[in-house]
Amino acid sequence: MVIIKTREEIENMRKAGEILASCHKEIAKIIKPGITTYEIDQFTEEFLKKHNATPEQKGYQGYPFATCASVNDEICHGFPNKKPLKDGDIVTIDMVVNLNGWLADSAWSYGVGNVSPKVNELLEVTKESLYIGIEKAVIGNRIGDISHAVQTYVESKGFSVVRDFVGHGIGRDMHEDPQVPHFGRPGRGLRLMEGMVITIEPMVNMGTYKCKVDDNGWTARTTDGKLSAQYEHTLAITKDGPIIITQQ
Ligand code: MF3
Ligand code: CO
Repeated sequence: MVIIKTREEIENMRKAGEILASCHKEIAKIIKPGITTYEIDQFTEEFLKKHNATPEQKGYQGYPFATCASVNDEICHGFPNKKPLKDGDIVTIDMVVNLNGWLADSAWSYGVGNVSPKVNELLEVTKESLYIGIEKAVIGNRIGDISHAVQTYVESKGFSVVRDFVGHGIGRDMHEDPQVPHFGRPGRGLRLMEGMVITIEPMVNMGTYKCKVDDNGWTARTTDGKLSAQYEHTLAITKDGPIIITQQ
């Protein structure tokens, strides 16, 4: 069941999104070779605390950290750890912020130090695919219009889009209906209505879209060991078009 949000509720989510966006901006400043994803996770937890918000991921279905930190061939749900990031790595930091019971969800990929031109292209194409999806998030379109636009763009650039993880509705709960795949056919799926709040969060791979899950039961990585990037925003569908709740 899709839960439609009032303007006031969207405003509440926006406040959570503002904190999330400023946290990502700070993370962008501290990511460099030598820092660990554990330190980034701790930084995030303290940042949210300072802003009277909490990390919704921590304890969610037993997930043990405030952030997901997915390095290189990890697609999503990477566990923060004490291994220093190296020059040329990429890392996706994903978090869900809870402010007064209202949530916002955003993941961002970062290059560590200097990344190769090909890796930079992966980052740029993935980010662009998110905004191409957001453009389709207008009243009257269908979920499949978002899915198709993201997939077509990504594949036109020679990359692949992950099938096993999708965007979602969000509000007081992290995962609400509808599911928002990043692949599919235009004109299919649920029609977008005013007051829907969803995430779009394409995970884009250099090689195959196929994933496997680590023994920790969480971390998904590419089966071919090639790199994966992800950018995610939470957005509200309104009469004035999509409002990006987690805009940095
Ligand atoms: N923020 C992510 C999502 O979209 C991942 C949450 S999984 C968790 O959907 F367990 F870490 F919370
Ligand atoms: Co999400």
